[in-house]
Amino acid sequence: MTFPTERPAIWFVTGTSRGLGLELVRQLLERGDNVAATTRSTERLLSALGDDTDTSRLLPLAVDLRDEAAVESAVRETTERFGGLDAVVNNAGYGFLAAVEETGDRQVRDMLDVQVVGVWNVLRAALPVLRERRGGHIVNVSSVLGLTAVPGWALYCAGKFALEGLSEALAAEMAEFGVKVTIVEPGYFRTDFLTEDSLVLSTEATPHYPAIREMISDHLKLQDSQLGDPVKGADAIISRVLDGDGPLRQLLGSDAHSYATAKVETLRANLDATALSAPATDFPA
Ligand SMILES: NC(=O)c1ccc[n+]([C@@H]2O[C@H](COP(=O)([O-])OP(=O)(O)OC[C@H]3O[C@@H](n4cnc5c(N)ncnc54)[C@H](OP(=O)(O)O)[C@@H]3O)[C@@H](O)[C@H]2O)c1
Repeated sequence: MTFPTERPAIWFVTGTSRGLGLELVRQLLERGDNVAATTRSTERLLSALGDDTDTSRLLPLAVDLRDEAAVESAVRETTERFGGLDAVVNNAGYGFLAAVEETGDRQVRDMLDVQVVGVWNVLRAALPVLRERRGGHIVNVSSVLGLTAVPGWALYCAGKFALEGLSEALAAEMAEFGVKVTIVEPGYFRTDFLTEDSLVLSTEATPHYPAIREMISDHLKLQDSQLGDPVKGADAIISRVLDGDGPLRQLLGSDAHSYATAKVETLRANLDATALSAPATDFPA
């Protein structure tokens, strides 16, 4: 077991006023764990949890994840309030839909600020605590689109692919300190992700990509028919952390599993097709 069983575990979760993050907070509080929950709006988080949830073990934190000092102070507040840290879930994220050439400089920077810089800020603050206690678990919520990319999702995929690279390296770095890393790769989940409250659309749409416009309109109609159940998703993430050992990548959803499988097959074919030509650029042995 990663955590001592004699005391409630201490979690730090980002992006918690909606969707998977909210469900994680709800289930962790029900378990009797201590939860530091970051959000851009603590009012929205508390009202989503409602009056029936026991919030005595909750530390709601209004944090702009892009602000390194704010993140550092949120992690410090967590360890001071609960006396340590066991698990970190980098969950905050949002979708952006547009063709590559319709994606503006500001939109690229905003996405990477949240999905890469923000995660890095959390890691820089949390890793020393976990490394020194020689244990704990980092969960980075990626997507199956962190493994495979499709038209119209380039910016989102760029953020999630970056998160996957960071996480893979981190897992190897942390092994000697006993800190586990899991990359969560959900398929479509029935959260607010595909609503216009969460999803960002390009303001620079051009007439050149009718298939992408159609894809966007189809996705906006998918709401409430996604396969993934966030209650089961949150439960699977918590169980994975409590189990300790397991594969680096946690696919969530049969859709995610089949997209990932198709990607691996394409990659295998690509490797086979370049097996003879790749060594041609080597210096002679
Ligand atoms: N649902 C899916 O189909 C799906 C599929 C694959 C991966 N995912 C990933 O799963 C994670 C959770 O998403 P969800 O499905 O729960 O979606 P959601 O219901 O829209 O919730 C997203 C959460 O991320 C935070 N967030 C959104 N935009 C943000 C921004 N610009 N800056 C900081 N925080 C922001 C929000 O936190 P606050 O508003 O509380 O600050 C919100 O609670 C995300 O990383 C997402 O990419 C979702």
